Amino acid sequence: MEVKTSLLDNMIGVGDMVLLEPLTEDSFLENLKNRFDHNEIYTYIGSVVISLNPYRSLPIYTPEKVEEYRNRNFYELSPHIFALADEAYRSLRDQDKDQCILITGESGAGKTEASKLVMSYVAAVCGKGQEVNKVKEQLLQSNPVLEAFGNAKTVRNDNSSRFGKYMDIEFDFKGDPLGGVISNYLLEKSRVVKQPRGERNFHIFYQLLSGSSDDTLKKLKLDRDVGKYNYLSLDSAVVSGLDDAANFRTVRNAMQIVGFMEDEMQSVLELVAAVLKLGNIEFKPESRCNGIDESRVKDKNDLKEMCELLGIEQSVLERAFSYRTVEAKMEKVSTTLNVAQAYYARDALAKNLYSRLFSWLITRINGSIKAQAKTRHKVMGVLDIYGFEIFEDNSFEQFIINYCNEKLQQIFIELTLREEQEEYIREGIEWTNIEYFNNAIICDLIENNKNGILAMLDEECLRPGTVTDETFLDKLNTVCAEHQHFESRLSKNSKFLTDHSLPHNCFRIQHYAGKVLYGVESFVDKNNDLLYRDLSQAMYKANHSLIKQLFPEGNPAKVNLKRPPTAGFQFKASVGTLMGNLQTKNPNYIRCIKPNDKKASHVFTESLVRHQLRYLGLMENVRVRRAGYAFRQPYEPCLERYKMLCKKTWPHWRGPAREGVEVLLTDLQVPAEEFSYGRSKIFIRNPRTLFFLEEKRKQCLEDLATLIQKIYRGWKCRSHFLLLKKSQIVVAAWYRRYSQQKKYQKIKSATTVVQSYARGWQARKLLRELKYQKRCEEAATTIAAYWHGTQARRELRRLKEEARRNHAVAVIWAFWQGLKVRREYRKFFRANAGKKIYNFTIQRIMQKYFVGLKNNMPSMSPVDKSWPARPYLFLDGAHAALRRIFHLWRCKKYRSQFTEEKKAVYEEKLEASELFKDKKALYPSSVSQPFKGDYLEINKNPKFQKLNSALDDKVLLADVVSKINRANGKGSARIFLLTKKSVVLADQKTGQVKASVVLSDLASVSVSTQTDGFFALRLKEGTASAVKGDFLLSSEHLIEIITKLHRVGAANADKEKINVDISDEFLVQFKHDKVCVKFIQGSPKNGNNASCKRKNNRLLEVSVPNTPSTPSTP
Ligand SMILES: Nc1ncnc2c1ncn2[C@@H]1O[C@H](COP(=O)(O)OP(=O)(O)O)[C@@H](O)[C@H]1O
Ligand SMILES: [Mg+2]
Repeated sequence: MEVKTSLLDNMIGVGDMVLLEPLTEDSFLENLKNRFDHNEIYTYIGSVVISLNPYRSLPIYTPEKVEEYRNRNFYELSPHIFALADEAYRSLRDQDKDQCILITGESGAGKTEASKLVMSYVAAVCGKGQEVNKVKEQLLQSNPVLEAFGNAKTVRNDNSSRFGKYMDIEFDFKGDPLGGVISNYLLEKSRVVKQPRGERNFHIFYQLLSGSSDDTLKKLKLDRDVGKYNYLSLDSAVVSGLDDAANFRTVRNAMQIVGFMEDEMQSVLELVAAVLKLGNIEFKPESRCNGIDESRVKDKNDLKEMCELLGIEQSVLERAFSYRTVEAKMEKVSTTLNVAQAYYARDALAKNLYSRLFSWLITRINGSIKAQAKTRHKVMGVLDIYGFEIFEDNSFEQFIINYCNEKLQQIFIELTLREEQEEYIREGIEWTNIEYFNNAIICDLIENNKNGILAMLDEECLRPGTVTDETFLDKLNTVCAEHQHFESRLSKNSKFLTDHSLPHNCFRIQHYAGKVLYGVESFVDKNNDLLYRDLSQAMYKANHSLIKQLFPEGNPAKVNLKRPPTAGFQFKASVGTLMGNLQTKNPNYIRCIKPNDKKASHVFTESLVRHQLRYLGLMENVRVRRAGYAFRQPYEPCLERYKMLCKKTWPHWRGPAREGVEVLLTDLQVPAEEFSYGRSKIFIRNPRTLFFLEEKRKQCLEDLATLIQKIYRGWKCRSHFLLLKKSQIVVAAWYRRYSQQKKYQKIKSATTVVQSYARGWQARKLLRELKYQKRCEEAATTIAAYWHGTQARRELRRLKEEARRNHAVAVIWAFWQGLKVRREYRKFFRANAGKKIYNFTIQRIMQKYFVGLKNNMPSMSPVDKSWPARPYLFLDGAHAALRRIFHLWRCKKYRSQFTEEKKAVYEEKLEASELFKDKKALYPSSVSQPFKGDYLEINKNPKFQKLNSALDDKVLLADVVSKINRANGKGSARIFLLTKKSVVLADQKTGQVKASVVLSDLASVSVSTQTDGFFALRLKEGTASAVKGDFLLSSEHLIEIITKLHRVGAANADKEKINVDISDEFLVQFKHDKVCVKFIQGSPKNGNNASCKRKNNRLLEVSVPNTPSTPSTP
């Protein structure tokens, strides 16, 4: 809940002077002091904020404070500048009213700070966003730039604004800032060339010298030493609490943010440097022949450097300091300048250069910050203008400044009164006129077009003939003498003739803020504000873009003979515009007061403050405010605040707020003349009444507090009690439930026990009955079974008995019959019945045997060894004999199928078996090979025709054998032919007979026991064939060859049989030697063939591979 507070809460003194009682200057002062001592620097007079300069930083501008004052009503919180800013901003945003914040007060009272606080508050509460923030930043950062160039240390203020500033901040309909426009008013340019004692030139000069880098200084041809520059006062070059170097960095940074280009910043600094250089140019007199002194530049170095900086031709500027050209009616007259005139020209140039630079800066900043969008916008103007000034020597500047303040006071009076009046009219309250001092008369004295001081001055300046400050004063003395606010020694008004406080060359004006004595010296000059045309032309010629822009009148192409408007005229015009501008806006006032002259915190100099509150017209302000009604408040908050004072309105009033207030005030018996009912507000005439209400409220609040406390305590106790009671019921309920549960469980279990006993008893009884029943049924069955059994057995016995009897009858009958038959046939039967039966039985058995044998006969193959099993032991011999017979018969059948050739083949095979079986290892492999005989088909092959014809008989065997060379054991192929008579060896290729051996010459054939195919044909000694020696041959068909050879030998009855020796070692006759052929087992080499090697002349070794060689079948 939002806590509603009021200005009236926690008040130190009175927050609003309107409520001051009694209202006297002393009580006013006392209230201010009281508040100031408690760090309350802000006090209201209605909606006007009085601000006392604390001269130290107070923790009242924090972001938290901003939040506190944001969107709160003006009188809701204790007085603060933020409340005023918030009020202005909200009525701008929500009610679409343009606003202006008018900040007045004398120099050092805190106007500039106040304007910055307002701006920063508005920046903090208005919209956010990238674009908006940039605008805000630029608006805020324009301040440091302007302060550097336009502020200076004065005796009153270390950071005194030496120009007037009015800034319009523009907002869109949402209240977001769009941009701004800054207007400046009359820079105090005389400060550039001369400063009063204890004061400084504009900050920028000092900042440049102490803050810029060595490099920059070198570029600007400057020296860091302040003492080297005539225009800079030495005595207060350093100000405590002011860090020029750091400020210079801030200014450069701010310029960057505002949007200055690097080259623009450089140009600006060059101009500042040029002003410093200008101040150092000095002149000396030089006598001319015509006796007139002419000025000459003393030391040209500074002049040279300055010209280099600005790109001006040195001679042109030098000439401009020595001559002055006056153009009149198409004529040019050139006059020389004396030293004083040269100095005047120099200073005029410096002042113009600087003030034009300042104006340019403002234009440039405006270019950056001006609102981009062309939409309609609302404006909040912040006016921070120089305050009312009274110095020891007051000149044209002070006159102008004070005139401006006069005007502001005028507008203040007008607007506050008007506002007050308007409010009464708005609220429908009768308005009674109030007496107050209206300074319009002073304004008229100064600005009246006919006989105002400014008009007089202009008249003097424009008048032909000699014009001096004295002639101007004379004029004033005649024209204004009658004016009650004008005082001059020589005026017609005789009462000042003897006033010694009024020097002769001065006039005095009774301003609203006090009397100010102005010395007329240089009024005319300053008003003329003339710069010799030669100088402006010299500047225009500069090769420097910024300088050229600043002196457009120097352009020879645009010579303007018309005088430029005077300074006074310009100022009056711009103040007029400003006032016009301000009058269209809703004013918000901040009136700054300086508590002491020492810039010290905690010091409240009463006389000083009294003086200010007098001339600021604050007392009048309060009076005006109170003339009608001291206090006003809308009905709702008023009723809300005081409704507890009446039983009818407390605690709630259901009707309209106004009626509520009426009921309330009537009930309180407040006299009717003390208040008035407006349309939306209640107006209270005397603060007394308000305090009466406040006092009552305070008392009532105490009572109410007690009441609230009482009710609260009662409520608290009651609710505590109720809580306890509720808890107790809950606890009891829970307990009862628990105990009932227990009891129930107990009963339940007891019941179960009893129940189970009863049920058990019943069940057992039933069981007994059932068992008895069952036994009865069983007994009946058993008895029946026994009965049936007995009957059945009896029947069985009877049947058995019957069967036995029948059988006995049959047996007896059979015996009887048998006895009868035996008795009848005994005589035929007894002799050979046994033998017959035996034979018959044997016959039957044999029959069965043979039929069985017939059905199980084995196959007709002679090699089939199977034979049915013997059925009876006594048939053993017969069975074996039958088997042999069957086999022989089967073999005979087999043989009978043979042809003659096949028979011969088998005979040969039989013979081979007789010869080699179990004797030579080669034999088994030959069994399956059929003996083909003619392997070469010698009869058919025409190749062997010749050979065939050479033979005497039919060829029995023809084959290729290998003849072993006797010398080395190597074999060579030969055709081996066997006929009935001889063995022929022939060349395999040619078929030529190599050797022919008659079979009768053959003694024996030797072969080994092994698997080889070697054989030796051994010849009978002394035969014709034996001359060449025995043959050692090797054949793949060894078994066939030897068998055939043996058979041929055997067939020839006239010849001896050829022996076959089977041995692994035998002798062979080779021509002359007997050589032993030895067969050994060796490892298989070059296939499975046996290899033969001649070991020595006695031994030929045949190595036979130990695996039985499988002879290749052709
Ligand atoms: N609200 C404030 N809080 C703290 N110091 C302040 C405040 N207002 C002014 N000052 C001090 O007073 C000095 C002068 O204030 P300034 O605003 O420059 O005066 P003016 O513009 O009225 O001549 C400032 O430099 C600052 O030190
Ligand atoms: Mg200021």
